[in-house]
Amino acid sequence: MDLSSTARLHTGNHMPVLGLGTWQLTRNTAETIAAALALGYRMIDTSGDYGTQPGIGDGFRRTGLDRRDIYLVTKVEETGDAYQATKANLQELGFDYADLMLIHRPPSTGAGEELWRALIRARDEGLVRDIGVSNYSIELIEQLVDVTGEIPAVNQIEWSPFGHDMDLKHHADFEGILIQAYSPLTRATRLDDEVLRDMGARYGKSAAQVLIRWNLQRGTVPIPKANSRDHLEENADVFDFTLDENDLAALDDLNEHFSSLGRLCKGAEER
Ligand SMILES: NC(=O)c1ccc[n+]([C@@H]2O[C@H](COP(=O)([O-])OP(=O)(O)OC[C@H]3O[C@@H](n4cnc5c(N)ncnc54)[C@H](OP(=O)(O)O)[C@@H]3O)[C@@H](O)[C@H]2O)c1
Repeated sequence: MDLSSTARLHTGNHMPVLGLGTWQLTRNTAETIAAALALGYRMIDTSGDYGTQPGIGDGFRRTGLDRRDIYLVTKVEETGDAYQATKANLQELGFDYADLMLIHRPPSTGAGEELWRALIRARDEGLVRDIGVSNYSIELIEQLVDVTGEIPAVNQIEWSPFGHDMDLKHHADFEGILIQAYSPLTRATRLDDEVLRDMGARYGKSAAQVLIRWNLQRGTVPIPKANSRDHLEENADVFDFTLDENDLAALDDLNEHFSSLGRLCKGAEER
């Protein structure tokens, strides 16, 4: 496995197993994206509301890579017209299509059926390759599928050893929905945890690398954000070690439903 390795979506398309998040990556965005792509990152995650789309497009165009060489994930907001928002995102990026378009979060009422229909239309018209959701519970996903018959390719959700939901994972596995792990480094709030540090020391790796590796080995796709060159390099240097089963289980056991954003999805009633 390496940065060019991919995971298969239920639609038959493939997504890189590790990506770069860009929320709050508003400083030197184009430079950071170009540096990440030069290091071998092939997936970038953004959103219409991050303010990073123009910089991502610029950074990509500095590399000379072909558009097909990278995998671009972006999102539409839960309010407004998702079809028009899709077009606006593409315009900001300067791209003809996105690889994956997500509903950023469920609307305050309902499951977002109209948003979902708009993304289906955008996908059918070739504006996006795949469509998915973010911050969705099992119940809300089932509502969307019941109404439209269309299963999301991805649910992007906060996910780390300290906060994950095995019911959601089992449901996703059963339906073929891939879980993309956001805030996989706990927004750097738990990197001094003793279990992580001790484990990392045994493998000659950092706490952040242990967190990323846990995702890779558990079949979820992490999208750590990094602005600094050192962090970009460190987070990509996770393909030369393997956590053993005891360590994976010890990381699973850290679960306390922690959420740095207070948003981990346990059910529609709690969102
Ligand atoms: N769908 C959603 O609702 C949603 C919500 C939140 C996030 N996301 C996506 O998920 C991405 C990642 O989540 P996140 O940005 O919330 O948090 P994160 O990736 O868990 O953590 C980012 C923080 O960790 C630091 N960091 C990165 N690598 C490090 C390393 N090796 N050692 C020490 N610190 C390190 C970064 O510092 P520097 O930047 O200074 O390098 C930054 O402060 C976002 O950028 C966004 O694309 C989606």
